[in-house]
Amino acid sequence: MPTAFITGITGQDGAYLARFLLARGYVVHGGMRRVSQPRLARLERLGIADRVHLHECDLLDLASIQRVLRDLRPDELYNLAAQSHVATSWEVPSLTARVNALAVGDILETLRLFSPETRFYQASTSEMFGNAGGALDESAPLRPRSPYGAAKAHAHHLTVNYRESWGMHLSSGILFNHESPLRGEEFVTRKITRGLARIAHGAGGPVLLGNLDARRDWGFAGDHVAAMWQMLQRDRGGDYVVATGVATSVRDFARLAAGALGFTPETLGEGLDETAVDRKTGRCLWRVTPGLFRPAEIDRLCGDAARARRDLGWTPATGIEALADMMARADHDALA
Ligand code: NAP
Ligand code: GDD
Repeated sequence: MPTAFITGITGQDGAYLARFLLARGYVVHGGMRRVSQPRLARLERLGIADRVHLHECDLLDLASIQRVLRDLRPDELYNLAAQSHVATSWEVPSLTARVNALAVGDILETLRLFSPETRFYQASTSEMFGNAGGALDESAPLRPRSPYGAAKAHAHHLTVNYRESWGMHLSSGILFNHESPLRGEEFVTRKITRGLARIAHGAGGPVLLGNLDARRDWGFAGDHVAAMWQMLQRDRGGDYVVATGVATSVRDFARLAAGALGFTPETLGEGLDETAVDRKTGRCLWRVTPGLFRPAEIDRLCGDAARARRDLGWTPATGIEALADMMARADHDALA
């Protein structure tokens, strides 16, 4: 049976990818960092917590990376661990660089020395493109606008360099935003669906939001993890944009989620005074707060996944309406 090692297995993508690989007969190992309370909630929610093999592996600790990889020598390694919150990366730029960039060098060098046949996936991101605009493919220039994006660009270049220098099977998946009911609660989609679900249950005030005009190419995480695996099944590694090709504003995502819960949002005011009120009940659903704007924003991210479609046969199955509906209902049901 093939073996896979997933760093960041306790995260959103780690949980979906572990389930995907288990369904294909893999023995799945995962790396976890030591925390006072093990964070297995996502693996438990997918019913796979007792089917994966967990190892102590903190990306800030080279010895733990080396120990796990020398012992396992997995067929496939998916590097999903990261400080993944863009806004937080301005607060902890050094930590973000160490986990998201420097640790990737440690992993690649460990593979080169001890397990060069392992196929490797690096979780790269559309955030590396910055404010380029248009439909972005693999040839778009990298102009990151956050410490997070800069660190991920470093890791992406390292992955490409190791592939070209040493002929190893290394892939970089340039994934656009992908969400799910397992999404961290501080990301905007989940913050919205959770907040609106609470209002629908008669609890909680309006959702406080920053830039409602930002547009993102939001897909479903369960669709996107399939592309990660497909990259590693090719004869050689490569770089692939994974995206739906549809960009939606934060405001429109909030409207879709509100509609899924039976609200009819009406916008009042504009700019920093903008709020949305439910037409039937008059309840305030969300409002803008200046403190949630970022030091530098990416106005719009939209991907062109033609290469992934052509070479991997990958296409997303879930559109933005179905995604908003899935997430809003999941949060609503969880509070019932
Ligand atoms: P996530 O839910 O935030 O999960 C991040 C994972 O990294 C968690 O398991 C976390 O462990 C782990 N981690 C953080 N620091 C670590 C460290 N020092 N050592 C070991 N593990 C550590 O992120 P995600 O949404 O699943 O994203 C997966 C990857 O794809 C990330 O690299 C992200 O940057 C990238 N990406 C995500 C998207 C997206 O839209 N979701 C798009 C493009 C790229 P704890 O449970 O202990 O916190
Ligand atoms: N988090 C958050 N909270 N974002 C808000 C809010 C808010 O209250 N209000 C507006 N936004 C806007 C942000 O300014 C941004 O333009 C957009 O909503 C999306 O923010 P996030 O959901 O935090 O995601 P992200 O695009 O910054 O980063 C995610 O996608 C990247 C891929 O493009 C993360 O998953 C990254 O790890 C990933 O690489």
